[in-house]
Amino acid sequence: MEKNVFVLGELNVDLIFSGENITPEWNREKLVNHFEQVLGSSSAITACVLAGLGHQVYFVGVVGDDPFGHFCIEQLRAKGVKTDYITIDPELKTGVTLSLTTTKDRALLTFMGAISKLTKKYLPENLYEIADHLHFGSYYLQQDARLQWREIFAEANKHQISTSFDTGWDPNNQWYRNDLLELLEFTDLFIPSEEELFSILNINNLTDIPACLPEKHGMVAIKRGENGSVLFDNDAHFISVDGYKVNPIDTTGAGDSFNAGLISGFLQNKRGEELLKFANACGALATLRIGGASYVPSLEEVYHFQNSNTE
Ligand SMILES: Nc1ncnc2c1ncn2[C@@H]1O[C@H](COP(=O)(O)OP(=O)(O)OP(=O)(O)O)[C@@H](O)[C@H]1O
Ligand SMILES: [Mg+2]
Repeated sequence: MEKNVFVLGELNVDLIFSGENITPEWNREKLVNHFEQVLGSSSAITACVLAGLGHQVYFVGVVGDDPFGHFCIEQLRAKGVKTDYITIDPELKTGVTLSLTTTKDRALLTFMGAISKLTKKYLPENLYEIADHLHFGSYYLQQDARLQWREIFAEANKHQISTSFDTGWDPNNQWYRNDLLELLEFTDLFIPSEEELFSILNINNLTDIPACLPEKHGMVAIKRGENGSVLFDNDAHFISVDGYKVNPIDTTGAGDSFNAGLISGFLQNKRGEELLKFANACGALATLRIGGASYVPSLEEVYHFQNSNTE
């Protein structure tokens, strides 16, 4: 499966403090029992899972020249992602998310740093000659590229390179509906969660979606947590597949793993129900281990999971 997938993405580390009594109080020091530093970022997790599924994955991104930046690069490399196209920019600081995690809830504080800074100038010169697929995650965090994606994807289209993106949540609650819809003309796989898409389109029902889509669009695959996913194809035909029945341990990265499954399945020429089931299996598998990219299944493991689990 030697397809070259380029992930144009944000990078950051997650600093995770976990335990029961971790709510901060001003002017007090509290001691916590668990701490972990892991690779964060939706794009990075998708890249790691794609590499695990057997693709040649190149990450294109930018980090600061600091220990966190080097950590992100090492972690990607350890998962088999090629990092030659990551720029280390000494003018920038690598982004950091501080996560306070109990068994029930999570509170996140993010310092953006280089997270928002990827733009066209960081793309490899020969990108359109060597890529088979372009993906980016976190539309709303990659702020500096927001108005450039259309041109990048249009160029990819000209070169018969397929394209996909995930939105993530918009922390500023802007949603940029028109900019986003304009990009769909050149997007083969648009992969938001249901909640995100409802916020973008200002609707509250899946049946309202086709009327909101521009005339020319690719597939729209919508993530619905334990309810599985739905797909509107290029003609807005609707396919729905239930989620696999699992007992989740940690749902971090389920959406990003679903993205990887959808892209990988698409590049293997899976379509319709078969494609959604494959992506659902990748999402469900991610809920069975702690962390986002800490566990990456192989293609065989995904098929084994599909054969031994039901929807
Ligand atoms: N509890 C679950 N049971 C079965 N499958 C699940 C479960 N949670 C997630 N999945 C699978 O993973 C996919 C993606 O998960 P989800 O809908 O939570 O994405 P998301 O909201 O983008 O999450 P993320 O926080 O990872 O970005 C779902 O469409 C589904 O196929
Ligand atoms: Mg998501």
